[in-house]
Order: sequence, then structure tokens, then C-alpha cells
Amino acid sequence: MYKKVKGFRDIYGLESRYWQKVEKILKETFNSFNYQEFYLPVLEKTEVFNRGIGSTTDIVEKEMFAFEDRDGTHVALRPEGTASIVRAYVENKLYNPPATSKYYYIGPMFRRERPQKGRFRQFTQAGIEVFGSAGPAIDADVICILYKLAENLGIDKYVSMEINSIGCPECRPAYYEKLIDYFTDHKEELCEDCLRRLDKNPMRILDCKNPNCKTITKLAPVALDHLCDGCEEHFTGVKSYLDALEVPYNINPMMVRGLDYYVRTAFEMVTDKLGAQAAVGAGGRYDGLIKLLGGPEVPGIGFATGIDRIVALCMLDETEKENEIDAFVVSFKDISDKAAVKVVKLLRDAGISADMDYDFRKMKKQFSLADKNGARFTIVLGEDEMAKNTATVRDMESGGQEEIEISNINEYISDKLRRN
Ligand code: HAM
Repeated sequence: MYKKVKGFRDIYGLESRYWQKVEKILKETFNSFNYQEFYLPVLEKTEVFNRGIGSTTDIVEKEMFAFEDRDGTHVALRPEGTASIVRAYVENKLYNPPATSKYYYIGPMFRRERPQKGRFRQFTQAGIEVFGSAGPAIDADVICILYKLAENLGIDKYVSMEINSIGCPECRPAYYEKLIDYFTDHKEELCEDCLRRLDKNPMRILDCKNPNCKTITKLAPVALDHLCDGCEEHFTGVKSYLDALEVPYNINPMMVRGLDYYVRTAFEMVTDKLGAQAAVGAGGRYDGLIKLLGGPEVPGIGFATGIDRIVALCMLDETEKENEIDAFVVSFKDISDKAAVKVVKLLRDAGISADMDYDFRKMKKQFSLADKNGARFTIVLGEDEMAKNTATVRDMESGGQEEIEISNINEYISDKLRRN
């Protein structure tokens, strides 16, 4: 017997039902905000992520499934979608003619993290990216989509939105100096990772989970207090549009992101229902990334949600059934087997989901199969019915039953389903 690879998992049964529902709602919501679906490859040249995400981030330093292909090309399973879609945007020159472009993507991502509840080595993200809009109105709209998703999925009661501004290349150098000064004074108390981060990426220290580092960071200077005028004005704008959109949010000056490309607005939708893995969705602005990956100076902003975590939140409210078909046809070998395959076809052609027992088991067993499949109607084709060219249709909700002519069965069921 083979076992799956550590950190990878199988999704089936009830979870897969929730998954389908979540994907449907995500797509409907993205469409309602005028986003177009983008299908991206799962494998990219490793350099796309090294440059895009940043060489001193956890993802690039230790979490990528990266390897040398047989032809010597260095490739990696994508750990996220943003660097990938920016590569595609630049490679396909989608910045011509200049416009605001809005895309979404759904698919698996891979990070070699330590697996735990809500954290997997293959997980699925649904993300959006906007290219070509620099003002605060789009930031607020993007955050609004993330919140709207939670509302449409019915999980808004479990989440809250945290926002922050983490400055830009203009204000960051002076802020970094202050931060490095502060942490240098507490060098002895920092963990090994943070000591490494100190010179190259000091803001990441604020995100360290080590208890000692956490104590020190409490009094560390925050980017929000050291913004340049441009960033200050931008953040004020974001907040005022969020207020206009009535999106509830908290300002969290300690929130920094684990990827290097962010400037100005950063946000996370968090929950306290999934243990240590609090982030259900997160994102921010990344104005320099398109240029960094070889494109023109086009601003960008977006977020990604973790579908595995969203599904886990949705499953806290048990409402879905494992399966739900419209009709199950009960039939008998040599009596109604041919009639049954025809009725099932008739129903399916009319857009009614239907199934039957192709092994023609005993009637009791077939009824239990109907039940297991969550059939709304059971259609019995017995000897009596066959003599009259009819079928007995049982409504599994009300328990009532009616005898219907076989040729009318599709219309009868369609009509009943419409009225429901
Ligand atoms: P991220 O914060 O690394 O951002 O990931 C976004 C979301 O993906 C997280 O909030 C979480 O829900 C989910 N996620 C991440 N890692 C795991 C994991 N190991 N297991 C399960 N779920 C996970 C990004 O990836 C950015 N590309 C977001 C973005 C888009 N920023 C701008 N545009």
C-alpha cells in the first residue's frame, strides 16, 4: 500500500462538496467585480520566484519545491500566483495598450512548510490581481472583494480584516535604519532566523513567531509611524474608501507580509477558528514588481485566499449533504432494465441529474442507494408500471407518490424541481 507524500492530501466526500460550492461562489464574486480568469502554469523557472518573492523570504530560502530539470533548467512548483501572473503579464505584453487589467486565478500552490492544521504542502489559492491602477480607490475595492467573499460564503462571522501600510522605497530606508538600530540593541534576544534577517530584511522580524522575538517586537518602531507624505496620503485614502464601502477593518501596525514585493497597503483577513493558521486570505500592493520582472512601470495590487482554509470555515456550519441528485431510477433485470437506461437518459438530457443501479440489486438495496445519493425523487419501474408504460415517482421529501406516464417523466420532474 502506498501512502501520500507528507503535507499533501486527498479531498473527497463532504469536503469536496463544500469545495465545489466555495469555488462557485468565488468565481461568481470575481465575475461580479469584472475580473477575468487567467490559467497559469504550475511550473515556472525558479528565478521568477527568487526575484519576485525575494531571496531572503522563508518561501525562497526554505520552502520551494525546486529542482533541476533533465535539460538543466532550474524550475519550481509555484509557491504562489503573483510572481507567476506578473511573469505572464510581462511576457505576453498585456500592458499594451495601457489599461487597468483585472485577473483572477484558482489553482494549487506548493510550499515545503511544516504541515499542521490548516497548513499543507499543496494547498489551493484563489487570487486576484489588478495591474495599472495606483490610487487608493482600487486598494479599497480589492479589500472589499475579499470581505464580500466572506459574506457570500457565509463566513464573515468568523473573520476580521486587518490592514496596514508598510511604506515604499522612499520612506523605507529611514525606517529600516530605525528598526535595525532598535533590534541591534536587542541582538542577544533574537532567534537565529531573525539575526539573519536583521541586515537584509528587518521588517520580517516583526512577523517572527518565536516567543522571545515576539516580546522584543512589541516595542519596535512600526512602518505606519514612519510613512512619507505620499504613503500617508495613500493610506488615508484607502481608509476613507473602505469607510464609504462600509467594510469593517482594524488597523494593525504590526502586520507585515512574508513576501518582499509589497509596498504601501498590506492586508490580511484572519480567523481565530483554525488554530495557529489565522490567515484566510491576504494581499497588498506591489508597485515595483512588474518592473522588477522585466516589464514597464505598472502598479499592481491583489490578494489570495486559501481555499483549504475557507472550506474548513464553511464546514463549521454543517449544511451540505455528501451528495444530492435529482432522481434515482429503481428497476429490475429482464423487466425494466432497458426502460430504466432510457428513462435515465431522458432525464439527463433534460438537465436533471439522475442515476440508477446498473447491477439491478434487490429493491430494498436500490432504495438505500437512492437515499445514499441524496435523491430528491425515486422513480420505480416495476412490473405493473411497465404494463401501463408508467412509472411511480416518489417525492423523498414529502413521501407522497404519483404514477406518471414515462414519456412525461422529464417534464414532471423538471416542473417539480422548478417549484422547489
Ligand atoms: P500568502 O499570504 O503567502 O500570499 O498566501 C495567501 C493565503 O494562502 C493565506 O492567507 C492562506 O490562506 C493561504 N496559504 C498560504 N500558505 C498556505 C499553506 N501552506 N496551507 C494552506 N493555505 C495556505 C500570497 O501568496 C500572495 N501571492 C497574495 C497576493 C496576491 N498578494 C498580492 N496578490
